[in-house]
Amino acid sequence: MTYDEQITAIKKFSFEKMSGDATGHNFDHIQRVIKTSKRILQTENADSLITLASAYLHDVADDKLVDDPAALEQEIKEFLTSIDFNNEQIAEVIYITHNLSFSKSLSKNPPKLSLAGQIVQDADRLDAIGAIGITRAVYYGGAHSETIYDPDIEPRRQMNKAQYRNLNNETIINHFYEKLLKLTAMMNTPTAKKIAEQRHQYMLDFLDEFKAEWDAEK
Ligand code: ADP
Ligand code: NI
Repeated sequence: MTYDEQITAIKKFSFEKMSGDATGHNFDHIQRVIKTSKRILQTENADSLITLASAYLHDVADDKLVDDPAALEQEIKEFLTSIDFNNEQIAEVIYITHNLSFSKSLSKNPPKLSLAGQIVQDADRLDAIGAIGITRAVYYGGAHSETIYDPDIEPRRQMNKAQYRNLNNETIINHFYEKLLKLTAMMNTPTAKKIAEQRHQYMLDFLDEFKAEWDAEK
């Protein structure tokens, strides 16, 4: 298979797996992560097939989204074999999709990602901040019946995935302090860091405006 044929096949596979999701992981998230990964690839010398394959597949076997992540991971492996990925390439894509998450980055021994993995991680995180990030947080909060804001809630400290999932008094604004405002400092590549800084400032401005309006100061 040619490179273009492989990319087309991965896109189709990802679309089929992701398009039914209503938690902010819709295929439009994947397409933005792809676009941003391509932008970062222009200044970073990474393997573009591994980068884009990992970007397309990074949420397919997410344990927050599917009941049986191991089965999906097996499906991904079989799919990649069928489009001529060798074992080493498959292992790298699986490793990246497995180790991308915020909670893994906060763990005691954060996984070391290849440059391809770092790019996808940056692109995924850039999609969680700025105007898109604000929209996704509100969308997610609505879907999970979160309150908008509670000035008495102290930003919680780092939590793992299971704790996040079981959180029932999370607020949308609190999510900015728990996660979104931490992402800029965690960017891997200089290109992503630069984009993140602008988006970060946009969120800070938004939070200032939000609180001023909340207190009827504006
Ligand atoms: P990803 O796996 O793509 O990094 P998540 O599954 O953690 O993202 O979340 C999907 C989107 O929903 C992200 O934009 C994230 O910021 C937002 N989100 C996650 N948890 C919450 C929450 N408790 N409240 C508001 N938004 C959230
Ligand atoms: Ni994602």
